[in-house]
Amino acid sequence: MTRRSVIRGTGHYLPENVVENSWFESRLDTSDEWIRSRTGIERRHFAADGQTTSDLAIRAARAALDRAGMTPADIDGIILATSTPDFTFPAVATMVQSGLGMSRGFAYDVQAVCAGFVFALANADAMIRAGLGDRVLVIGAETFSRIMDWTDRGTCVLFGDGAGAVVLEAQEGAGTSDDRGILSCDLNSDGTHRELLYVDGGVSSTGTAGQLRMQGNLVFRHAVEKLAKTAHTALDKAGLTGSDVDWLVPHQANMRIITATAQKMGLPLDKVVLTVADHGNTSAASIPLALSVADGRGQFKPGQVLVTEAIGGGLSWGSVVLRW
Ligand code: ACO
Repeated sequence: MTRRSVIRGTGHYLPENVVENSWFESRLDTSDEWIRSRTGIERRHFAADGQTTSDLAIRAARAALDRAGMTPADIDGIILATSTPDFTFPAVATMVQSGLGMSRGFAYDVQAVCAGFVFALANADAMIRAGLGDRVLVIGAETFSRIMDWTDRGTCVLFGDGAGAVVLEAQEGAGTSDDRGILSCDLNSDGTHRELLYVDGGVSSTGTAGQLRMQGNLVFRHAVEKLAKTAHTALDKAGLTGSDVDWLVPHQANMRIITATAQKMGLPLDKVVLTVADHGNTSAASIPLALSVADGRGQFKPGQVLVTEAIGGGLSWGSVVLRW
């Protein structure tokens, strides 16, 4: 028998303030047409003044617990992926913990930028398999609007704020790819590409929060090359192939990257969960947001194979394969 981590519930929260592409037209030399055609993004949500990453995360966590039919008292730990924490410390996960009225179990943050949720999911799976908890909340939550350079048209039109969460629960499986739950993970980082995507401030360097800097076209090339590869590696580890995949749930950064990755995996677009048009790139929140939106629509059927993949600053990238 093998211990597996099964998704029992998903949830999300998006701030009320919806910003259409046209909002940028009066502020920057850009257009709705450019943003749509180059990225697939039509609108995004921005957190209100004073609304923090933990505020979004707590709402997403409550929604996931509701769908799982569980209460905070059922949860043994919280792992939260973010690059935009409320404070340098404590971890946002501990703020979610207290926000949910919990004072037991572990709670910590994972930082792998846009790949953060994939890393957190793999981390939670490893904790569950190691017997360190039976039920773990895994959250991706971001307020990237706080680290935008609003004069840089190459970045500020791309990102949005939001949070998504899943509840993982241990379940015994046979140890085959027919099991429900997480079947395999593939994680990678290559710090030599740091200058392609980074924030130009921080606690021990400038003492400021800094702003996001990106060489978009170079990140784009890495994404197209690395995402299909990591998905194939994870599928291979699970003993599956592209033809076994029912749903690709990709990081929602750019429609052109998503299309190219799906093509490389031999998947038609009707097997791809798409939220990029309405959410923009919400970094670590994008995959759990997409999972929750699709789950809410009843898109996933029991037994179906899902593949997630993401790449972000670091560079860091990876993929998780699971059976719903
Ligand atoms: N409006 C109008 N023109 C623009 C805009 C804009 N908002 N942004 C850039 N341009 C211009 C550029 O200035 C450039 O003009 P030039 O030719 O006169 O110099 C031209 O458009 C082409 O620029 P590119 O950067 O080559 O455009 P590209 O087609 O690559 O699209 C984009 C840019 C959308 C950023 C794309 O490269 C991309 O999506 N990259 C990947 C981003 C990503 O996936 N990040 C993932 C991780 S994010 C994270 O981890 C935080």
